[in-house]
Amino acid sequence: MKALLLSAYRQLEITDIAQPALNTGEVLIRVAACGICGSDVHGYDGSSGRRIPPIVMGHEAAGRIAAVGAGVSHLSEGDAVTFDSTVYCGKCAYCLRGEVNLCDRRQVLGVSCSDYRRAGAFAEYVVVPAHIVYRLPDSVSFAEAAMLEAVAVAIHAVSLVEIPRGSAALVFGAGTIGLLVLQALRVAGCSRVFIADIDPSRLKLAQTLGATGTFLSSEADPVAQALELTDGVGVDVAVEAVGRAETVAASVNSVRKGGSVILVGNIAPEVPLPLQKVVTRQIRLQGSCASAGEYPRAIELMAKGAIQVKPLITAVAPLEEGPRWFERLYAREPNLMKVVLTPGSFS
Ligand SMILES: NC(=O)c1ccc[n+]([C@@H]2O[C@H](COP(=O)([O-])OP(=O)(O)OC[C@H]3O[C@@H](n4cnc5c(N)ncnc54)[C@H](O)[C@@H]3O)[C@@H](O)[C@H]2O)c1
Ligand SMILES: [Zn+2]
Ligand SMILES: [Zn+2]
Repeated sequence: MKALLLSAYRQLEITDIAQPALNTGEVLIRVAACGICGSDVHGYDGSSGRRIPPIVMGHEAAGRIAAVGAGVSHLSEGDAVTFDSTVYCGKCAYCLRGEVNLCDRRQVLGVSCSDYRRAGAFAEYVVVPAHIVYRLPDSVSFAEAAMLEAVAVAIHAVSLVEIPRGSAALVFGAGTIGLLVLQALRVAGCSRVFIADIDPSRLKLAQTLGATGTFLSSEADPVAQALELTDGVGVDVAVEAVGRAETVAASVNSVRKGGSVILVGNIAPEVPLPLQKVVTRQIRLQGSCASAGEYPRAIELMAKGAIQVKPLITAVAPLEEGPRWFERLYAREPNLMKVVLTPGSFS
């Protein structure tokens, strides 16, 4: 089968590899669409250490079931599906508590690291365990479905703290994750959601997706603006979707006493913390990793238009154009958001 293989760091090639074998409890999926994730771009040059070549990357995908392994009864050949990017065991203490994102034997598709190697979906076919597969309604296209993983990440993050209806929120970062968090906060009942970024084009997009205020961080202090718009009180919840020291500190500085900061971004491995502020203002810091069972809700919200992903998709391109799109994303070309590759073009 045709695959986009990372054969060496910064070297992607379209090549022919063996179709993966189908085992008990698994399904073979003919991939229709697979999004390029920021983590793929970070893995591409070896900086994250999570894409050790040779590896077929890709974990944000959708397609049709081509074959069903023994013991799988709830899925059939021809079903349009997506799947969780995380393969979890279903048996460890975390899985038994429903915290499948924290599974002791967690593996991510399209990742190769010192612990494991698991082929991803930048290929004509991918094999995944049936228990991570979700059926798609007709109203959701494959390209949109490739965004469900990120939608689930956003819904999961927002679900981790209590957000009373009518709350005010501030999101740092209007990238893929930030713009989905913004929409998830609206769905959760926030009456005001502000968003801060250094890129005006992303803030413009945020306005069309329901932001009630946008702050251009490079021109004015977003914390001061958030305080001004909340009569000096601060927002109820801040979501950090950048992952850098300055935005973590700004998140803490922008919430009210007793407010919550949800930490999603994680570019910097360590950041300084305004400790006394967190303690004396009794601020809750909540980390959020991937998702844990939010796919059905993500599909439902996407299908009814409550969460929109089309405006975040910059390009839908054939798999063969993968090497070029990776280079463009790696070069941080402006105005690029999500790029979705289509190993198989069928409906
Ligand atoms: N916790 C999780 O489960 C999870 C899942 C996916 C991504 N992430 C992380 O979330 C973060 C965002 O991911 P993404 O895919 O949206 O990335 P992205 O690159 O699309 O978005 C990041 C945004 O932050 C903006 N930004 C940079 N510096 C800023 C600053 N000082 N102030 C305000 N905005 C600033 C950028 O302009 C960009 O729009 C990353 O750190 C990523 O690793 C976490
Ligand atoms: Zn991802
Ligand atoms: Zn487990």
